[in-house]
Amino acid sequence: MSETNIKRRVLSGMRPTGRLHLGNYMGALYNWVRIQHDYDCYFFIADIHALTTDYANPGNVGEKSREVALDFLGAGLEPEQCVIFKQSDVPQHCELNTLFGMFTPLGWLERVPTYKDQQEQLREKDLATFGFLGYPLLQSADILLYKADFVPVGQDQVSHVELTREVARRFNQLYASATTPEVTAAESDKELMKAEISENVLERQILPEPKVLLTPSPKLPGLDGRKMSKSYGNTLGLTEPDDDIRKKIRTMVTDPARVRRTDAGNPDVCPVGDLHKVFSPAETLAKVYEGCRSASIGCIECKGWAADGIVREIAPIRERRAEYAARPQLVTEILAHGAERARKTAEATMVEVRSAIGL
Ligand code: TRP
Ligand code: SF4
Repeated sequence: MSETNIKRRVLSGMRPTGRLHLGNYMGALYNWVRIQHDYDCYFFIADIHALTTDYANPGNVGEKSREVALDFLGAGLEPEQCVIFKQSDVPQHCELNTLFGMFTPLGWLERVPTYKDQQEQLREKDLATFGFLGYPLLQSADILLYKADFVPVGQDQVSHVELTREVARRFNQLYASATTPEVTAAESDKELMKAEISENVLERQILPEPKVLLTPSPKLPGLDGRKMSKSYGNTLGLTEPDDDIRKKIRTMVTDPARVRRTDAGNPDVCPVGDLHKVFSPAETLAKVYEGCRSASIGCIECKGWAADGIVREIAPIRERRAEYAARPQLVTEILAHGAERARKTAEATMVEVRSAIGL
């Protein structure tokens, strides 16, 4: 038990935006599963965040959240190993978000690059809303509520973690030093030992600044060679049947220099080559390089091997997911248990936060 106490804490979330594709999986869940034993992990379904863009059509957000829970479990997150929950089951997220809103300058939020980017990309939606501007502030609340040490996210989320650090700093400056409670000598020694050498070790930090845990997210091409993305319609689904995966990969674009079977190609400029780099064992990869460059293999054969690697990775996920899908009551219980554990941690932070502010 004491072993779990010294583990550093990790937190990350995923918006319920529909069926996951292979790119989503490799960019997030794949890594979460691999670190779940090394950290004290909290993974959640960001259903309130989903409303920032889907407020006009929230109809099935609950259903989509269940699907994400199945994706989590199917991918191999273990409910006894990490805390799995849904954001809206822990009202403290909204409370902390509201309190953060009081001291967060508008300029900080307007400057977050995803704000303007997303507004431009999602032109069909009116995103000139309070909630959408506040998206990264709610994310800061998600992270700081659990005093996470690390946030495993992709490059696109780094600016949100940066904002989180600024919010934590501002909170600590405003409220933490003024209310430093009596600390016994023994406790303060411990604090000092724990604190990393920095000039403000003596300033009490209620909310620690989190760090990004930059997870390796390999470049995953879609069927047309562009980045795999739902909006391009070029995806391979995480739970698609093997035959569909194989069929889709057969239609994938290849090295444009390899027009005829007798033309040599280069796996480094071929999207299928990129898939091999992620999913194929070293021997296969060697065969691909050798065979493609010497024109001794055909693209159809090469694509078959790429499909083998992908199917090997995702077939067990699909099966485990189906087992959970057949037991809805169990999934409900897992989420309820996760929410209970999350609320406990969250409320402990809120007690400190409310008291520091003087509420
Ligand atoms: N914004 C994240 C995304 O779109 C999801 C998210 C919400 C999140 N809250 C979080 C990620 C807290 C990490 C930590 O991917
Ligand atoms: Fe791409 Fe493979 Fe064809 Fe080479 S042999 S061009 S790597 S599909």
